[in-house]
Amino acid sequence: MGDNERGDRPSDFPFPSTLKKSYEESERELLSTVKERVLRGNSLSEILETVFNTFGDILTFDRMALAFLEEEGKRVVCKFARTKYKTVYMKEGYSLDLAMTSLEKVLSAKSPRVISDLSIYKLQRRASISTEMLLREGLRSSMITPLYSEKKPLGFLFFNSTYPNAYGERELKILNELKDTLSFAIEKAYYIEELQKALDSYKELLNFVSHEIKNPISSLITQGRLLEQGFLGEMTPPQKEIVSKIVSKAEYLLGLVRNYLDLSRIEQGRLQINIKDNVNFVEEVVKEAISIALPQIEQKKMIFEQKIEGNQYPLSIDPNLIKIVVINLLGNGAQYGREGGKIELNVDFKNDGVYVSVKNEGEGFTEEAKSKLFRKFSRLETSKALGIKGTGLGLYITWWIVTQHKGWIDAVSELDKYAKFTFFMPRSN
Ligand SMILES: Nc1ncnc2c1ncn2[C@@H]1O[C@H](COP(=O)(O)OP(=O)(O)O)[C@@H](O)[C@H]1O
Ligand SMILES: [Mg+2]
Repeated sequence: MGDNERGDRPSDFPFPSTLKKSYEESERELLSTVKERVLRGNSLSEILETVFNTFGDILTFDRMALAFLEEEGKRVVCKFARTKYKTVYMKEGYSLDLAMTSLEKVLSAKSPRVISDLSIYKLQRRASISTEMLLREGLRSSMITPLYSEKKPLGFLFFNSTYPNAYGERELKILNELKDTLSFAIEKAYYIEELQKALDSYKELLNFVSHEIKNPISSLITQGRLLEQGFLGEMTPPQKEIVSKIVSKAEYLLGLVRNYLDLSRIEQGRLQINIKDNVNFVEEVVKEAISIALPQIEQKKMIFEQKIEGNQYPLSIDPNLIKIVVINLLGNGAQYGREGGKIELNVDFKNDGVYVSVKNEGEGFTEEAKSKLFRKFSRLETSKALGIKGTGLGLYITWWIVTQHKGWIDAVSELDKYAKFTFFMPRSN
């Protein structure tokens, strides 16, 4: 029992009175509480705050800092520094080449190290800039532990006191006990944060690039069309041919960029669904989608067939988004279908909702490949092998839009014969 132990404390208790509890007394209880709290931390700053606030019960310190090894372990970068005093020189972001410090020795020893008196230490050896800075902050002793992830060095945790000789056997023992837990928690939080940062920059880049590229390409197309259609004077047939090639390449680029922009909007939760009531699906969606996809179908010399079945009724959908769905499916049919083959669009108004399918003759896909079709950035090896370019986003965006409409999308295929994609929109949602 804790109380009994306290009563049994020997009178020649060897530790400074500033230490509220003896190591023996609080060891189990406190260390496990600290460990548990450290492990519970969700972010790096939360973990470090916890260390700063709870370690005070077991160690004396006036400064606590964390530094990571970056640039393939060549540079030490201060990620966190908290002090119990005001004048701070060595702050967050401070960095130094590992070779300029004495930390290499701490790394190779793989265990905590104590410097009992920084001012003596400074006299004994050519002091590093960091020792100078710590002394200027009024610090006199330090205890450092290296942090390891598996076998790889991760960084260092520093404790400093304004008193000399603040750290001895007892403190080293405590730090040794805690260093694995600390390494583990800090590493986990650090990598999650790094990953999050990478993810954020990817999203930012995606959004910026697609936005910035989209508008110039759109105006390239508009201006190209003006030329092509002779509004700025008749062109010779070879000139016309080149302009029309430029326009169709720009259209291809616009398609790609639109995919990235849609993805970016989905990921940032900014792809708005504007459900409109009483949408005439055939007039407002199907016809427009066909007119956009038709040039691509014609280019592949495909035979296009269209069938509308059942009694039409108005739908509550986002016509612009569902149009993207139909364009994507027709576009894929043209892109992955057999040259000169048949491509069929079927719209069936049934009691429960509308079934729309696009079927093309061609290579199709295996049952195994089917599960990959609707995933982000996913492209089948067979298509890549054929040298057909794409983003692997169209079907993901399609799936996303259909799902947002409380519908579903599915695909069937017979290898080397056909591929058929069907999506369903419920009549009422
Ligand atoms: N009609 C189809 N026939 C065969 N494979 C298809 C068909 N439609 C899509 N796929 C496969 O699904 C992949 C993903 O399609 P999609 O998401 O539209 O991306 P992208 O067309 O940009 O590659 C394609 O790369 C292709 O491998
Ligand atoms: Mg596609």
